[in-house]
Amino acid sequence: MEKTMPKNFLWGSASAAYQIEGAYNEDGKGLSNWDEFVKIPGKTYKETTGELAVDHYHRFKEDVALMAEMGLKTYRFSIAWSRIFPNGKGEVNQASLRFYEELIDECLKNNVEPMVTLYHWDLPQALENEYGGWESPQVIDDFVNYATYLFHAFKGKVNYWITVNEQNIFTNFGWMNGMHPPGKHNEEKLYYQVNHHVFLAHAKTVIAFKEIIPDGKIGASFAYSPSYAVDCQPVNAMAKVDYDNLKNYWWMDVYAYGRYPRNGYAYLDKKGVAPTVSQEDTSVLKKAASLIDFMGVNYYQTSVVEYNPIDGVTQSGEMNTTGKKGSGQITGEPGVYKNPPNPHLETTDWDWTIDPSGLRYACKEITSRYDLPIVISENGLGAFDEKTSENEIHDDYRIAYLNAHVYELMQAVEEGCEVWAYCTWSFTDLLSWLNGYQKRYGFVYVDRDEEGGSLDRYKKDSYYWYQEVIRTNGATITK
Ligand code: BG6
Repeated sequence: MEKTMPKNFLWGSASAAYQIEGAYNEDGKGLSNWDEFVKIPGKTYKETTGELAVDHYHRFKEDVALMAEMGLKTYRFSIAWSRIFPNGKGEVNQASLRFYEELIDECLKNNVEPMVTLYHWDLPQALENEYGGWESPQVIDDFVNYATYLFHAFKGKVNYWITVNEQNIFTNFGWMNGMHPPGKHNEEKLYYQVNHHVFLAHAKTVIAFKEIIPDGKIGASFAYSPSYAVDCQPVNAMAKVDYDNLKNYWWMDVYAYGRYPRNGYAYLDKKGVAPTVSQEDTSVLKKAASLIDFMGVNYYQTSVVEYNPIDGVTQSGEMNTTGKKGSGQITGEPGVYKNPPNPHLETTDWDWTIDPSGLRYACKEITSRYDLPIVISENGLGAFDEKTSENEIHDDYRIAYLNAHVYELMQAVEEGCEVWAYCTWSFTDLLSWLNGYQKRYGFVYVDRDEEGGSLDRYKKDSYYWYQEVIRTNGATITK
């Protein structure tokens, strides 16, 4: 018998406001931290910005029509906080609220289940200016206020909500390697404190959500790169445990258990950088942990862990943002771990390891450690695509990538994992934050590059492939 996914499985695709919407200063939107950050020379590939992005703000009906034609079951997108509250709080901007209302209605009309991310990295600049954004605990109430406003506004229409996207990435890039706003380097203590504020914002939001939409589903999306010890030397096995406590469980344990991993906390405490956690914080975190419905997972790659001597590599190392293979550098925590490449696996042009079975591994780890349902909120391949003179895009490499990952996901389900959704990254091509427009992820090609373009949409081969996967509920997936 052919394998399929469980009935009502949500075959989906995802995006984020800053990466697709454009219209950065229209209809009363306030500026976000990203609107400001991209203006700093050298921060993004060829100084690209999301000011126009792929103009989804004006073309959302065309984009949703393409989703409907494909048969997409769920569309995950984010709401820009600075559109709803141009100042981060205070008066609501009704014009922007209407935009999201129309987008949601358009999805519902087309039987596409909306899945909303509250925070996909774009913070109202007004809050950054007023109190340093996530650095101040003041942000917690402002976030909860923003979130609860949306819960009331879209109650009855939106059932699936994601509080924060990849907290581990935006905080690391914002306060450790300076590549995202606010562009700070090695502010380790602040980095953990900022994370603590994000955890509390997430937790208080989850608690509020359950009061407003008790039947709805909520969780956070974590960028999970499961780790493999480089070999069976005990020193490397220990490095793997330490790595997981600091880089994976540090987030997932808080979402699922409401507490930090004890060993990781002890290490950071000794280093003098652990966050301050009050009794009250702990009870809030624990209450939220008992209420979350799923673990959201953005899966792109696995990592290898090896012991890193005290004079070894540090957290700062060049990242490949150009698509020139091999230009990324090894990073790590001196005296604890480092992440060398995996010689058994291929990589993308941006040096991201391609490891389909890592997705199954991730699901099994989450299932055994947390016993939670799983939403794969992102998975996809960033690649150079070419449009032929016949306006076709033959992205067989993307089909192979996605097929292999879905195959492993189906295996995970067969092995007992409860998986509710699989969202590819992304539906249309979009701005890849630091990597410009040349790193493409979509099923739908958007005619634009770093300089501009017509913004016309073209279906790639992968579009038709996914359409069949959805139609057959996975039966067309091959080994
Ligand atoms: C995730 C983000 O980190 O991965 C997305 O949630 C992002 O917003 C995606 O675009 C791919 O990363 P990148 O750097 O290739 O755009």
